[in-house]
This record gives sequence, structure tokens and C-alpha cells, in this order.
Amino acid sequence: MQPTAPTIQLPMGNSTIAGQVDSMYYLIYWISVVFFVGIVGAMVVFLVKYRRRGNEKGAPTGHNTALEVFWTFSPLIILVFLFHQGFKGYLFGLRAPENAIEIRVRASQWKWEFEYPGGMRQNSELRVPVGTPIKLIMSSDDVIHSFYVPEFRIKRDVVPGMYSTVWFEAINEGEYTIFCTEFCGTSHAAMLGTARVVSREAYDRFLAEGVGPREGETPEQWGERLFSENACNSCHSRDGAPAPGPTFKGLFGRTEQLEGGASVTVDENYLRESILQPQAKIVRGFSTVVMPTYAATLRDRQLDALIAYIKTIR
Ligand code: CUA
Repeated sequence: MQPTAPTIQLPMGNSTIAGQVDSMYYLIYWISVVFFVGIVGAMVVFLVKYRRRGNEKGAPTGHNTALEVFWTFSPLIILVFLFHQGFKGYLFGLRAPENAIEIRVRASQWKWEFEYPGGMRQNSELRVPVGTPIKLIMSSDDVIHSFYVPEFRIKRDVVPGMYSTVWFEAINEGEYTIFCTEFCGTSHAAMLGTARVVSREAYDRFLAEGVGPREGETPEQWGERLFSENACNSCHSRDGAPAPGPTFKGLFGRTEQLEGGASVTVDENYLRESILQPQAKIVRGFSTVVMPTYAATLRDRQLDALIAYIKTIR
């Protein structure tokens, strides 16, 4: 199977369901074009042909059984056919193949967390092997989000208090953007992620070795990458701009006034605690926003790198 080429209307389709989705889309599109041209064309012809001339009076039209039957049953046949085709595609997308790899997806304001078989967790990046069915088992910690990767042609709501599932099989390796497509609050637009389709070997290596710095990356550079991968930027600005959380500009060494009257000087321990237990010390004015904990997704080395990076934001 080949990925579908991008067109003016649709991005490239890199999954086994993309072909079905696209042909259904274009079928409906072209049926609509034919009817649009036919109806508007007939309207224009009749407008000209039967325009008012002198004092001529229009005669009432009678009943035409053949015409009535034709325009009742032809749309019905088209509708039943479209329903049949659409339902076939729906069933195909509903049940993941038996051998699918199950990946747990947790959505929260405003990040995606992925948990792989074996328990490794990662924020904002979904790494999957090429040519393998992947079943996503999704839930939300707070409000309704929606998981969407246009190139895979899959989109499914992620709802608090229940699981929803969706599956796909990528045809080629590549990198695609994950969107949240349900308005979920202030930083909804920044609730992005990356779906990275890699070879089976690279996927197995990734599961075995976990997430580390790239080759030649300094702790600060790795920290900067973690900053965006963990979507810190959706709540913390780096330039002092107002945001749901305190800005990181000049954060290290600053004295923060806390809710309840105490104050704290920002050092490594405060940063570490705030990432792992965000509710321990709340900066004054930020008590209405609940930061999610990163205790399950960030390991010591990653915390070190993130703190190293935060120190550089002056
Ligand atoms: Cu999550 Cu929009």
C-alpha cells in the first residue's frame, strides 16, 4: 500500500485507512459538484427561458408522477449507497487488528501523554513503528479533548471518565503533527504533539533505552527541547508575556511571593519541587490554574536538563 498524495483539499494520507477516507470524501464531493452545477444551471436556464414577456400569464403546472418518483428515489439510492460505503469504513476503523500495539494516551490541559507497553511514558511525542497497527486507548484527566492526526485520517474525542479508542497503521516513516481538535481552554491551540513513525528497530531501541539527549546536545539544549516537548510553553512564557502560569523570564534567583503570604527564592530545589508537586508552593495570583504533575513522565536526568535550561532564560 502507498500513501496517498497531497491535494489542494487534503494533506498526504499516510495510513491504511487513508485511501478509504479519501475516496469517500471525493465521492461525496463530486456528487455534490454534479448536483450543484445541475441545479444552479437549470435555475439559470429557466430564469432566462421563462422570463416575463409582455402581458403573458403563466399557466399552472400539473402533476407528473414519473418525475415525482424519479426525484424521490434517485436521492434515496444515492443516500443508501453513501451510508453503506461510510458504514464499511466506520467498521474498519472501529476494530483494531488483534496484533495491534496498545499505547495509552492521557490528555490534560494542555498536553498529550503517551504510555508505551512496559510503562515508559513520554509527553507530546508519540513514537510508533512503521507498518504495524497501533491502538490508542485514550482518556482525559479534565475536560474533553480530541486526538487528531490529519495525515493518518483519524480523529477521536478524548473524554474524562471513559476510554475511547482509535487505531491506525502508518505506511511510511515520517513526522506528523498531533492536534487537539476540541476547544479545551486557554492554551488549546498550543496543545500539539508529534507523531513520529520510525522503523521497527528504532522503535524497539527507543523502548529499551528510553528518552535521552541527542548526540552532541548540551544539557541546556536538551532542556530547551524538553521544554517544548512537555508543552511547558503552553502555560509559561519565556519573554515575560502574561500566561496561565508564572513566566520563566528571569525566574532563577527571583523571589516569588506565594499564596498565603510566604515567599521563596527560586533555586534548583524549588524548581524540582514545582515540576513534581506543582501544588506544593503556589505563586500568588496563580491559584486558579492547576498545573499537572510531571512526576510520572520526567526522570532525574531530564529534570536536571530542564532546570539547566530554565536557568538560562534571563
Ligand atoms: Cu485539548 Cu483542545
